[in-house]
Amino acid sequence: MKIENFTLKNYDNIIGLWRKAGISVGSTDSEKEIKRMLTLNPNLFLIGKLKNKIIAVVMGGFDGRRGYVHHLAVDPLHQKKGYGKMIMDELLNRFRKIGVHKIHLFIERDNLEVVNFYKNLEWQVRDDLIMMSFVPDENLYKMRI
Ligand SMILES: CC(C)(COP(=O)(O)OP(=O)(O)OC[C@H]1O[C@@H](n2cnc3c(N)ncnc32)[C@H](O)[C@@H]1OP(=O)(O)O)[C@@H](O)C(=O)NCCC(=O)NCCS
Repeated sequence: MKIENFTLKNYDNIIGLWRKAGISVGSTDSEKEIKRMLTLNPNLFLIGKLKNKIIAVVMGGFDGRRGYVHHLAVDPLHQKKGYGKMIMDELLNRFRKIGVHKIHLFIERDNLEVVNFYKNLEWQVRDDLIMMSFVPDENLYKMRI
């Protein structure tokens, strides 16, 4: 699999891939918001290609303190062949290069089986934290893409 930086010309492909892999695509996945994420993190937003077809994607982000991993997905036709690990290894190398101290990711409770995938990559489940969220503008959050 060839790993490249995501570019906006691949927007429709990654939305399709996320949907196919069962990722919840929401208001922050509109083209405008994805462009904003890409502008802030051009080298952390990765796609993986097989014969020029995108089969893997991961969106990394760095806020100046912590790193974040969002929307990792491998095409269901190509899962369990090492591609998920491959694109995550590349992303973690890129985080390492910019000196990020700690990286977080969030897993929906109805997707518990993916916990073992990350444990396999040496991620640790945190039981000392409670995640809280705040929505500053309901209209923005409810927007459909
Ligand atoms: C999670 C996901 C990206 C993994 O990608 P993948 O290409 O299938 O995973 P890999 O083949 O690289 O697996 C790497 C290792 O993890 C193991 N692994 C993969 N999925 C696993 C699972 N569900 N449970 C336990 N181990 C798993 C593999 O066996 C492999 O182990 P090995 O190195 O000892 O052989 C893929 O299943 C996916 O797209 N899922 C749907 C979207 C999703 O849930 N994304 C995560 C959002 S938080």
